[in-house]
Amino acid sequence: MPTWNELFTDELYVNRIPESEVNHFVDVLEMLFSERPLRLWDVCCGGGRHTIAMAQRGHKVYASDNAPNAIRLTQEWISSLNLEVYLELADMTVCPWPEMGFHGAISWDSLYHNTLDNMKKAVSEIHRHLLPGGLFMCTLMSTKSDSFVWGCGQQVEPRTFILEDSADAGVPHHFCDESEVRELFRDWEYLSLAEQVITYLERGKNFLDYNPFPFTKWGVLVRKIS
Ligand SMILES: C[S@@+](CC[C@H](N)C(=O)[O-])C[C@H]1O[C@@H](n2cnc3c(N)ncnc32)[C@H](O)[C@@H]1O
Repeated sequence: MPTWNELFTDELYVNRIPESEVNHFVDVLEMLFSERPLRLWDVCCGGGRHTIAMAQRGHKVYASDNAPNAIRLTQEWISSLNLEVYLELADMTVCPWPEMGFHGAISWDSLYHNTLDNMKKAVSEIHRHLLPGGLFMCTLMSTKSDSFVWGCGQQVEPRTFILEDSADAGVPHHFCDESEVRELFRDWEYLSLAEQVITYLERGKNFLDYNPFPFTKWGVLVRKIS
């Protein structure tokens, strides 16, 4: 069962196209803060698509991931570009820039690769490192997602599973219901909490290997209360 570090040796699993939501997130931050450049943290940066998209907007981007291959891929990508990006190998529960205060942080499709307890630690570390009024945006897996509803492999704690039938089968996946999301972000002000529901009416053989559509997930946009 592969880890993310192993998956990143195959270009198939390196996503190069940034999500449009991240661009919108930077628009909102630029409206809220007049300081330039903004300091932004990409938590669990993967191959660097959002790190680079945010740095190309002229901001100072700090990116961390616990997979050495993620850091290597992001480093290789930025080396040909003149961008202000700082990279560190780190677990999501630790900010590798201890003195830093960020205007914004994102963690796209990543925070749920952990136990609930560690997800709480990660959210609290992000909260600690944001400036008052700073924003955090993330996605989380929902208990309405197909993997949860149709069976999720080996359970390691309530709603955390090591999946058996997806490319990232070796890594934990935690599925949140609404009350859990609300508990995770109880110290924050919500700007938006969305459950993006996708219902698959047909699932072909080895569906997860080629399905291009997103799974049912939570979209969370929150602000650190000043
Ligand atoms: C689905 S990928 C998403 C990558 C990136 N955020 C993106 O949108 O392209 C999940 C990422 O989470 C990282 N990850 C998983 N568990 C982690 C942990 N405990 N600490 C730090 N990074 C972790 C993986 O290495 C991988 O880069």
